[in-house]
Amino acid sequence: MQGTDANGEERTAAAIHARIGADRGRPIRVHRRGGTRGCDRDRLDSLPVRPVPTLQQQVKRVRDLIPRGVKLCAVLKNGEPVGWLADAMARAAKVDYFCVPNAQDGIALREAGVDAPIMVLYLTEASYAPVLLHYDLEPAAYSLAWVDEANRLLQRARGILKVHLWIDTGLSREGVMPDDALALARAVNQSPKLHLQGIATHFCCLEKGDLAAIEKGNLENQTALQKHRFDQVVESIHAAGIGLDAIIHAGSSDALRFGVTPVYYNMLRIGGMLFENPSPEHRNYTWKTKILQVKTLPKGWCIDYDCKKTVEVDTRVGLVAHVPNDEVTYLVRGQTVKKLLDHEYVVVLDISHLPDVREGEEVTIILPEPNSPLDSSWSSAPVTLRDGAGPGKGR
Ligand SMILES: Cc1ncc(COP(=O)(O)O)c(C=O)c1O
Repeated sequence: MQGTDANGEERTAAAIHARIGADRGRPIRVHRRGGTRGCDRDRLDSLPVRPVPTLQQQVKRVRDLIPRGVKLCAVLKNGEPVGWLADAMARAAKVDYFCVPNAQDGIALREAGVDAPIMVLYLTEASYAPVLLHYDLEPAAYSLAWVDEANRLLQRARGILKVHLWIDTGLSREGVMPDDALALARAVNQSPKLHLQGIATHFCCLEKGDLAAIEKGNLENQTALQKHRFDQVVESIHAAGIGLDAIIHAGSSDALRFGVTPVYYNMLRIGGMLFENPSPEHRNYTWKTKILQVKTLPKGWCIDYDCKKTVEVDTRVGLVAHVPNDEVTYLVRGQTVKKLLDHEYVVVLDISHLPDVREGEEVTIILPEPNSPLDSSWSSAPVTLRDGAGPGKGR
């Protein structure tokens, strides 16, 4: 796979990977047989997870709640393997779009053979523009400077980068302020290298009463107010003859949960609701990792820097790689194991009461809340997703 850089030079996908990996301070995941487009079942089957029918049922349930004509965008912020998840979801129901939190996860989806449109949420630096184009990933355009830089870098590239005009309508997070949105839309529209694919915002305070407030035009309600600002901006952009075919999107899980239909627009970006578990005991999926090292610490051995604590008796420990959530409970063979040490990249579990446990044994990760996400995009642990299984079943 080749890309074209700012100077029109051809670059290999490996060079692009290396750059992104270096930027993020962590290695990029490249699947063994990755690289080509098109859904390659063999490649997906080689990933270390099994089918997750209950997760797929949940995707179907969500799809069925969304009116026809409104696209479903699955927001994948909940963990690895992100490409596999995307494929499992797409096979279960019609997922029109995917959203990922960073370019690297977008590349992982492409490497897993995901063909659907992929939007990269939040702030992706304009310097990534050639890479985004190469992988057909759609970033948010959030400032004139961003557009200028993307234009400059894409000058000699082949193709046109699709972007979403992101508007901050009252969350104080990513996006252009409403008053500056039209100028930004014009800049995108005038660019020969950019296409205005979407116009978007994100709500801060979706709640039950929003539908009634919107219907009454009650701008004391925060969602109604944000919607009002968003609609005004979209109207002004359309009035300028720009973005008439752009996808308008704003709503997330709570919009669907509370039936706030006026904010469905052309597409809903659904994250949490796709991963919901009925309860901690009845999970649609569980996270698993593996014990990577087992050893016995002799009595008196220091625990942690400065040796403020030592082990009181000979202690058998199992080490797992970093799991990015301090609050998790670890289960081995269905039994809770205590954390002796959590050093971010290495977690040491006390498995003294499980003398037969060996390296490679599965560890179940129970999150603090039934629906809490495991943002394993920052995990160095070989975290995988498994079907069903509450803690009691010891899977
Ligand atoms: C911009 C944006 N859109 C959509 C979502 C999905 O939100 P939810 O998980 O509530 O569906 C999120 C949250 O992760 C988000 O930040």
